[in-house]
Amino acid sequence: MTREDRPVIDEPVADFAIEELFLSRTDERGVIQSGNSVFARLAGYEWKELIGAPHRLIRHPDMPKGVFHLMWETLKAGHSFGGYVKNRSKDGRYYWVFAVVVPVEGGYLSVRLKPSAGVLDEVVKLYRRQGKAEAGGMTPEDSAKAVVQAVRDMGFWDYSAFMGYALGMEFTARAEAMGSFVPPGVRQFHEMGDHLGELMKEVKQVQDSFGRIRNSPANLIILGSRLQTNREAMKVVAQNYGLLAEELLRAISELAEGLEVLLNTAFDGRMGYCASFLYREAIEQFRLTEPNRETWGHEKEVEILVAALKRFSDAAIGGCSQIGSEVGRFTNLANQLRRQVSGLAVTRVICRIETAAIREETSGIDDVAEQLAIFQGELEQSLDRINLACQGLGTRADRLRAA
Ligand SMILES: Cc1cc2nc3c(=O)[nH]c(=O)nc-3n(C[C@H](O)[C@H](O)[C@H](O)COP(=O)(O)O)c2cc1C
Repeated sequence: MTREDRPVIDEPVADFAIEELFLSRTDERGVIQSGNSVFARLAGYEWKELIGAPHRLIRHPDMPKGVFHLMWETLKAGHSFGGYVKNRSKDGRYYWVFAVVVPVEGGYLSVRLKPSAGVLDEVVKLYRRQGKAEAGGMTPEDSAKAVVQAVRDMGFWDYSAFMGYALGMEFTARAEAMGSFVPPGVRQFHEMGDHLGELMKEVKQVQDSFGRIRNSPANLIILGSRLQTNREAMKVVAQNYGLLAEELLRAISELAEGLEVLLNTAFDGRMGYCASFLYREAIEQFRLTEPNRETWGHEKEVEILVAALKRFSDAAIGGCSQIGSEVGRFTNLANQLRRQVSGLAVTRVICRIETAAIREETSGIDDVAEQLAIFQGELEQSLDRINLACQGLGTRADRLRAA
């Protein structure tokens, strides 16, 4: 019977306990090299059927191709991947896992836990939608893009933000269900996620506000050219304002780039932090329960697991210290922008003085000055909120380093 002919039974595999971690390692093409007994038991196969078989052996038809496309692209780029996967056991029943997959020497390693945090409900809906889209002809590549877009629509910055969040949630729910210790950094990282969300909103607000006054210098030049008197003075005001607007645009772009670096650092750190605890536990379980099978050497296997753990803990430690300096850099950019914004007040006042001096129709110029005033007010408020969020982030970064 081929994999495609095997039955699909819409029933979960019963014997998957929350404490159990499911483990497997493949070569570079996804061919199974080793695993733990939870893996073999849930898959429902003998070791001799598993070793040397492609991992797709346990693929469930409900899994959209787009998710695996995203996984392989991430792994091939040298990054780790986290995601929900529905698998099919040999008898056709299913079981869901949250998998954390990482490149290791000669291939990839995956450690999974049983999802229980309630995040899965949305994911099931998303996978169902993608399955239908793929059945209608959507390519795996486009489907992967749609998955990323869907998590963005859920409010995540991108897929990496989602996977770190989901892992943190799953890790916490599992630890609570088992009555075991939840490492303090998980909560710190989640709270940091809230501050980062605030920052994202504010930086977006700054960009939107700027978008509304972008054309004002050009408008001022046009309006000024129509004046009978003071035309030259208005031209100078408009040109200065144009230069200031360019500077502001540069500063706002730098702020957005700074935020991106900060987000990447924080999300990689969170993924590394949670994954390092997961892998540490998987190693303990593996050491205790897995014998030295003829197909692999126990010590070698543990060595590979420890190397993967080190990769995650380095990311967590690096992330924690880097977040502090990135917050500092970001705060400086915000302060610099604030100083530039004060320059706008000068332009606005000059604008008002010039228009007051002109005894002709000036309502257009007044409007521009008014727009500038609104922009400046909005920007100052946004920058105040950015400052506040940065302070919150700084405190979290300090607590994280301590944790
Ligand atoms: C370390 C590792 C673990 C994997 N675990 C699973 C898994 O549990 N279930 C699964 O369906 N695919 C898993 N895959 C992905 C499969 O290799 C394969 O890409 C997927 O089943 C889709 O098969 P298809 O490309 O033939 O549609 C894993 C891959 C790697 C590298």
